[in-house]
Amino acid sequence: MNPSTDFIPYARPSLGVEEENAVLSVLRSGWLTTGSVAKAFEEEFAAFVGAPAALAVNSATSGLHLALEALGVGPGDKVATTPYTFVSTAAVARHLGAEVVFCDIGKADYNMDPGKLESLLARERHVKAVLPIHIGGNPCDMAEIIDIARSHGAAVVEDAAHAFPLRMEGGFAGTIGDIGVYSFYANKTMTTGEGGMIVTRDDSLRKRMALMRSHGFDRDAWDRYTSTKPAWFYDVIEAGYKYNLPDLLAAIGREQLKKADAFLAERQAIAAGYLKAFADLDAIELPPVHPGHSWHIFAIRLVPGKLRIERGEFIGRLAARGIGSSVHFIPLHTMDYWARRYGFSPSDFPEAWDKSSRSISIPIWHGMSEEQGRRVIEAVKAIVAEARASGP
Ligand SMILES: Cc1ncc(COP(=O)(O)O)c(C=O)c1O
Repeated sequence: MNPSTDFIPYARPSLGVEEENAVLSVLRSGWLTTGSVAKAFEEEFAAFVGAPAALAVNSATSGLHLALEALGVGPGDKVATTPYTFVSTAAVARHLGAEVVFCDIGKADYNMDPGKLESLLARERHVKAVLPIHIGGNPCDMAEIIDIARSHGAAVVEDAAHAFPLRMEGGFAGTIGDIGVYSFYANKTMTTGEGGMIVTRDDSLRKRMALMRSHGFDRDAWDRYTSTKPAWFYDVIEAGYKYNLPDLLAAIGREQLKKADAFLAERQAIAAGYLKAFADLDAIELPPVHPGHSWHIFAIRLVPGKLRIERGEFIGRLAARGIGSSVHFIPLHTMDYWARRYGFSPSDFPEAWDKSSRSISIPIWHGMSEEQGRRVIEAVKAIVAEARASGP
């Protein structure tokens, strides 16, 4: 094995001739930015997840920002989420002048613990929105979270960045809360390079997000330029953002969407292979399993005391064998900005801190070959064998 040429990345997009042709057709069409292709992508995505409508955006971060803005989150409000997430889940609350209150994750998984949410909301006043995250593609307990949030007068925004397509009780992840936001970032379960999608059943929220997505224009740019009637006049009715997804990227999204279930089947097969291969390794804890898991991330956890090496060294040894890996996530409360702002120390959210310090996300992507899967398994087993605490 030559680690530089045979490197197995931890994530890799799968793009074929279909995506290439779709982009070419947009390039040749004379219309590059948001237009009929983005609109078709929205309709197809909404139909796929069973939502009445969808809004394409240029990232999940933009989508989360629009969601909180539409819910009226602003100065004096609080937003509850877990520290076990990517920074934008929490940062968007700060963009709107609201404060973030963190709730620890549960013992059994990486998701918001409903019991801890209940105590948090009993303690904190003015929490306007709760943002659970389906970490890695494993579903949150949405029924419990929604009940608790409602009883405290808070809306629920699902961060479904990892969770497409995740079929769970009540429908697709992302369609269960008041608003759901998906990510099509380059390493996600389907991609447009950069991009995202918002869904909601609430028409007034949808209208507000559509307005704020495009500068607060009273009409779409597409209407203005493509209509046969002269239509140069438009008004600006709010100070909106520029969060639209261009047709160039939506064209990729439409093709990826057609392959979403085939991609899912591949990731599920890789995950099943890992679960079987590592079942007997007492030095490794396995991720939670759900029949609909979208397997954006497959994270193993080192069991304390079983190995002579720490997580960082394990990652180094994987890299030396040509295996890419990552960590999801370094908890936000341990990062400089959040620790400074709220005076946190790592032990304030013990589950998030403990799980994060032992987790390693190993390669899982559509297009990964059986041989590559075998190499990852052999590398993990070999490192465990050579690093056993009781070993020579
Ligand atoms: C849990 C979570 N939420 C939100 C985001 C933001 O997604 P995007 O890069 O599309 O803005 C990410 C990105 O990786 C994420 O992991």
